[in-house]
Amino acid sequence: MTGKVVLGIESSCDETGVGLVRVDNSGAVELLADEVASSVELHARYGGVVPEVASRAHLEAMVPTMHRALRTADLRLADVDAIAVTCGPGLAGALLVGVSAAKAYAAALDVPLYGVNHLAGHVAADTLEHGPLPKPCLALLVSGGHSQLLRVDELASKITEIGSTIDDAAGEAYDKVARLLDLPYPGGPPIDKAAREGDPRAIAFPRGMTGPRDAKFDFSFSGLKTAVARWVEARERSGEAVPVADVAASFQEAVADVLTAKAVRAAEELGIGTLVISGGVAANSRLSALAAERCAAAGIQLRVPRPRLCTDNGAMIAAVGAHLLLAGSAPSSLELSANPALPV
Ligand code: KG4
Ligand code: ZN
Repeated sequence: MTGKVVLGIESSCDETGVGLVRVDNSGAVELLADEVASSVELHARYGGVVPEVASRAHLEAMVPTMHRALRTADLRLADVDAIAVTCGPGLAGALLVGVSAAKAYAAALDVPLYGVNHLAGHVAADTLEHGPLPKPCLALLVSGGHSQLLRVDELASKITEIGSTIDDAAGEAYDKVARLLDLPYPGGPPIDKAAREGDPRAIAFPRGMTGPRDAKFDFSFSGLKTAVARWVEARERSGEAVPVADVAASFQEAVADVLTAKAVRAAEELGIGTLVISGGVAANSRLSALAAERCAAAGIQLRVPRPRLCTDNGAMIAAVGAHLLLAGSAPSSLELSANPALPV
């Protein structure tokens, strides 16, 4: 088979991801392997990711995950033509594990190394399922660590942030509200499930950053979380049972409403015809349904990768590496470091 094999390593948060892709001269990228070892269960009892625990889990999982990916793709290390690694943003200690491993493999194999921005990876994830992205496109990135609207002119080199959260990330809000409702961590899936039985109009929770003086494309979720906390506390004080399904559905509606309204408005104002939604929260059933409805009404093409590709993984980092390799971009030096606050 022709084409170059790119190995991608992701370790910015609590997922150790190793992916393999093959890219041919036409730019077509084929997904060969996507192995992820998650330390999410180790963090569950703390209600959030504990950086030290995540770093150690990466150290344990990195090489076995690499071997699993190679086995899945039926390849050997010697078949790898380039290595891409997340070098930021993310947790410092967690990033160091992936960057160190990538440098060691690149040096030993004598292949180019590409430091990749994690956010570019999330955008690129969609190309593994739906092919190349039109230029420009708009990306709504919503995860436990990020809530951003990005204008993407060039996948690896020209991404501009046009809006972001001023406080909590959307996924963080899900995790905090789940805690208030005694639902397990991470909170997105159980809230999504509970909301199916609830009425999204039962409680009118606030839509953050939608006032006339608020920045048009920024988000805020901490006021919403506080509103849910107050509502739940008032119910508990009155001795009445908390209607978990209604609270979940009403909270979920508020998040999906703000995210989709702002994304569609941004696409319209910037004259961009394609919206990509990625990150863990993209798996939310109400978010994708409302985005589909509003994008169709506005004549915007909507692309949402399957949930497995929305959450952190190494294949999306390999996809950015493939793009850089094909574009003839200069590789990173072996002095590459991790930057926890790497901007897009
Ligand atoms: O992208 P991701 O796996 O990790 C990073 O944060 O980078 O995203 C995890 C976040 C968690 O906050 C989780 O609660 C949320 O994504 N999430 C969801 C759903 N599935 C995961 N949020 C809403 N609805 C879901 N179905
Ligand atoms: Zn992520």
